[in-house]
Amino acid sequence: MMNIEIVPIFDQSVPHVWDDFVRISAAAMRHVYNYKTSEPERRDAISKLQYNWAHSEYSFAFGATNGKTMVGFIYGDCADDTAVIQGLYVMPRYMSRRVGARLLHSAENAMTFVADTVELVSLANAQGFYEYHGYVPISRGSNHYVKQIDQEIRSTVVPVFRPTSLIMDSCDQIAQMNGQRFDDSDAYDVASAHWPMFVHTDAMSQICGFARSQIKNNSYVEQICIDRRCASDIIRNRLARALGGMQITGR
Ligand SMILES: CC(C)(COP(=O)(O)OP(=O)(O)OC[C@H]1O[C@@H](n2cnc3c(N)ncnc32)[C@H](O)[C@@H]1OP(=O)(O)O)[C@@H](O)C(=O)NCCC(=O)NCCS
Repeated sequence: MMNIEIVPIFDQSVPHVWDDFVRISAAAMRHVYNYKTSEPERRDAISKLQYNWAHSEYSFAFGATNGKTMVGFIYGDCADDTAVIQGLYVMPRYMSRRVGARLLHSAENAMTFVADTVELVSLANAQGFYEYHGYVPISRGSNHYVKQIDQEIRSTVVPVFRPTSLIMDSCDQIAQMNGQRFDDSDAYDVASAHWPMFVHTDAMSQICGFARSQIKNNSYVEQICIDRRCASDIIRNRLARALGGMQITGR
């Protein structure tokens, strides 16, 4: 039975992530475009993923998993209010089961806090997919697509790949209400570890709680804080469940 979960990948540099990306993209390219990825191309692709990860100010990625196996992924980066999807691929036997749509939707939701627009350059066969999901070519016939993202993200859990000052301010206020503080000491350090973090939005799409985990001084530290005005077990449980699904490694 297929039980596909969409999970944020906060730290792409943990073992196997880029190998999985390349395995899946090679299989999808073979299936859809009859294109065989050579061994040097695979190595080159991994080097590019490594380089992007190390140099991008804001990277994001989601994997679609069936049990422990990654069967699809989306990744990209964000700068100056524009998120760029660098790749979206689904394993052939999982195509046409809404895995691609769920990955795209998860990325758009996560980008709503940090970007106004999502852009991408589409491969030939995926243009219909992106148009179906509201993307428009920047000029007639172009494969460069764009979409404004101004959707409301109400009462849901959203992963935060790197907290912006707006997110940090909201979380700090919520932490203070709970007699705690939101430690932002490594938030601006591109080279720092990318620890799992989620926020929960309320019915007005405002942040009403956050959860994050870190390894500090060799200890696992977890922080979950909810805005006292809307404190609810449901929100706490959702955040705890999201965090609980993450495996984190200290580097
Ligand atoms: C493009 C791709 C990511 C789509 O993923 P997918 O899981 O197969 O697509 P989904 O099942 O999520 O499709 C969602 C919806 O989009 C529609 N759709 C999918 N591909 C479409 C296309 N080429 N044209 C028009 N509509 C399309 C589906 O009909 C579906 O509609 P529904 O929800 O009403 O049933 C996947 O097919 C893939 O990996 N392709 C090869 C690699 C590639 O080209 N990637 C894009 C790189 S930019």
